[in-house]
Formats: sequence, structure tokens, C-alpha cells
Amino acid sequence: MTVLVLNGPNLGRLGVREPDVYGTATYADLVDRCEAVAKEAGVEVDVRQTDAEAEMIGWLHDAADAGSAVVLNAGAWTHTSVAVRDAASQLAAPLVEVHLSNVHAREAFRHTSYLSDIAAAVVVGMGIEGYAAAIRFLATT
Ligand code: DQA
Repeated sequence: MTVLVLNGPNLGRLGVREPDVYGTATYADLVDRCEAVAKEAGVEVDVRQTDAEAEMIGWLHDAADAGSAVVLNAGAWTHTSVAVRDAASQLAAPLVEVHLSNVHAREAFRHTSYLSDIAAAVVVGMGIEGYAAAIRFLATT
């Protein structure tokens, strides 16, 4: 079983990007943590990041066709993109929505998600440990 871990815009800048909000762990740390947890959980993991919405939509189409489970941090697209939602809606395997920060404790525009109602689970505010929890959950489903 392969779990796709897909990250949207600005997440490649973790560690330098607003560390007071997103922590000091870098994107490379995030990838390492996902790979370590996947190994423990006995699944394969493929961790990717893009700042291009079309690329993200293509990855979601590929995951739908492959029947892969997805951990998705869509970043700002979470709050804006019907197109990313429509692509994620096509997934056959479970989707887990992850946010490093607790979006519900932040600006009002971050309280709306186009993904939460189509996700099997939502993890917010746990930093990169949220990805670990999501991968462990998907490994058991
Ligand atoms: C985020 C929260 C979003 O509101 C924001 O646009 C991001 C990161 C998070 O992981 O906390 O880019 O998805």
C-alpha cells in the first residue's frame, strides 16, 4: 500500500516561513518524519509538494486512478479551491486533511475548508506530528 502525502503552496518553505505559526521543522524534516513513520507502519509513502494548482490536481487524478490513500495539506487552496476539492472528491481510498497550524484558532477565512466534508479525518494544530498520525491512521484502514 502506498500513501501519497501531498502538500500545496508555500509548504516547501517550512522552517523559514512564519516559524511562530508553522514551527521550525523544515520541509526536509517533514519528509523524513513521514518516511520514518511509514516504515514503522509498514506502508510505502510518496511525499510531494507543489506551488502549482494544476500539478496538484494531476497528482489527485493519478491517486484516484491508482486507488491510493492521500494525506493532503492543500495549504491556502483548502480555503479557496473548488477545483482541488473536485479532484479530491474522485479519490476511491480515504483522504486525510492535515494542517500544521490550528486553522480554527486563526483568521476567519481559514475556518472554511472545501475538503473537510469529503475527508475521512481532519488533523489540525499538531505540526508535522499531524502527518504521522494521518499515515498511521491510513495504514490501519
Ligand atoms: C496550512 C494552513 C493554511 O491556512 C495556510 O494557507 C497554509 C498552511 C497549515 O498547514 O497550517 O499554507 O495548511
